[in-house]
Amino acid sequence: MTRLGKDLPRQAGLADEHGRVARNLRVSLTDRCNLRCTYCMPPEGLPWMARGSLLTDDEVVRLVGIGVHLLGIRSVRFTGGEPLLRTGLEGIVAASAAFRGPDGAAPHLALTTNGIGLARRAANLAAAGIGRVNVSLDTLVPQRFAALTHRDRLSDVLDGMAAARAAGMRPVKLNSVLLRGVNDDEAGDLVQFALDHRYFLRFIEQMPIGPADAWDPSQVVTAQEILDRLAERFTLTPLEKAARGPAPARTWLVDGGPGAVGVIASVSWPFCDSCDRVRLTADGKVRNCLFAQEETDLLGPMRAGADDEEIAQLWTDAVRPKPLWHGGLGRAGFVPPARTMSRIGG
Ligand code: 5AD
Ligand code: SF4
Repeated sequence: MTRLGKDLPRQAGLADEHGRVARNLRVSLTDRCNLRCTYCMPPEGLPWMARGSLLTDDEVVRLVGIGVHLLGIRSVRFTGGEPLLRTGLEGIVAASAAFRGPDGAAPHLALTTNGIGLARRAANLAAAGIGRVNVSLDTLVPQRFAALTHRDRLSDVLDGMAAARAAGMRPVKLNSVLLRGVNDDEAGDLVQFALDHRYFLRFIEQMPIGPADAWDPSQVVTAQEILDRLAERFTLTPLEKAARGPAPARTWLVDGGPGAVGVIASVSWPFCDSCDRVRLTADGKVRNCLFAQEETDLLGPMRAGADDEEIAQLWTDAVRPKPLWHGGLGRAGFVPPARTMSRIGG
């Protein structure tokens, strides 16, 4: 196994001991959310992080700059909680868009959102530099949306997606989590909706990262089940892995294309071997994986006066021991992370 370390030039980027290089940064901007998806949060919400423990807008921008300038980060996705709750989002995006990597390239900037409030802000976000957006959509039935998220906001979400497309964001991706007996009968309808509107929908297998009682391995709607269900209604043709790159979704053309559907099967088909991601939490910690037990604080050193080189070194050291995989979600010996999804960033 190659040993990558301090002695190697930084151009190696954020490399780990297994030869993977993290080029894709996911930055959580807040742990708060205005929905309460049952698989993510209890209805009363969670004890939110104290404001003072969160990265300020300037601190976020500084870390993005270090990632892009010094560490080979090529794409940045802003997540939450719900990143649109961050009033400084447009400014963070615009400042991030101004950075250039060593090759002179601007980073690709993306947003993962629940879509509420996107209708109002999509044009400004696109102008600031957001090129791609992922919006969560688990159901097309308003009452189900209200039951699943504890808020009656489906129409805001649908308006948000439409506004993102109208603002020129491409692709507009939809993320759907299917829950047995709740919305799993909607798989085909969700795909048809996405095809009709030229969105790209991916189903995400439910992961053990929400409230302790929300995940039961026997209840996970598996990738295979989703495909079997879709095959009753559509002809699915798999796209080769080469066409996918490190993206975690496996993709199928629907009825010969051009429309397609993806499945992100972290439970059934882990994709850790090609993972190119690294995460920053809203309180300034590097995490190598959603399911990592370890994290490395950058906020403390930054506030204590560390310079960019020192931060870059801490970050490089944090990524090097990234485990080869998460050990099998839900299997014996698997320990769920201490942070829930909304505190890590999806
Ligand atoms: N399992 C799978 N997906 C989840 N998401 C949030 N929690 C979970 C979970 N436990 C999804 C959201 C959003 C995306 C960022 O992650 O629905 O679309
Ligand atoms: Fe909010 Fe996303 Fe969690 Fe739903 S899954 S409660 S939209 S953070």
